Amino acid sequence: TGVVVLISGSGSNLQQLLDAAASGDLPAPIAAVISNRADAHGLERARRSGVPAIALPHGNYANREAYDAALQQEIDAHKPALVVLAGFMRILSEGFVQHYAGRMLNIHPSLLPAYRGLHTHQRVLAAGDSEHGCSVHFVTPDLDAGPLVMQARIPVLPDDTEHSLAARVQREEHRIYPRVIRWFLQGRLTLTQGVPRFDGRPL
Ligand code: GRF
Repeated sequence: TGVVVLISGSGSNLQQLLDAAASGDLPAPIAAVISNRADAHGLERARRSGVPAIALPHGNYANREAYDAALQQEIDAHKPALVVLAGFMRILSEGFVQHYAGRMLNIHPSLLPAYRGLHTHQRVLAAGDSEHGCSVHFVTPDLDAGPLVMQARIPVLPDDTEHSLAARVQREEHRIYPRVIRWFLQGRLTLTQGVPRFDGRPL
């Protein structure tokens, strides 16, 4: 039961989840928040909501496998139904991702499959795209390439900057991520044989 949220920074998406949990809009609690950066503001947000806030700095581990093993142990101590990546800025090893197959979600600031990876707003502007947005997907070992669950689109406006795009995309993230997470916790959203399903129907 419950959700473990992984973050690295500000945690504005986390805040939406904390608020949703507090107002009874999530059918399960936020069990813990874990950050690979001790100074992540999101840890403070968790503490303010009375949620266990755990710093697990990656610098203390010899390699990715050692870190991911420690992270897995920390997560599994809370026995979560779902692991939520909310601005967790680390590549995860294949074994770690397989361990949470079908129960780990990510949000990415682009209309996937376009613009996997970093600096999406900058790349959208450089390409002269007329549309941009964000995507929620199940996590698979291929970075930002797991099965899509939901996207939100915004128009790119003539005077947009990286900053203005980031702000408008985030507003959409805050709208769609809690909704998808609620569906998952309600049992309406599943990943069955690699196919995301909503109320039993393939998406
Ligand atoms: C979001 O833009 C998300 O798409 C990306 O990292 C950012 C996290 O922002 N993966 P925040 O920490 O939730 O404010």
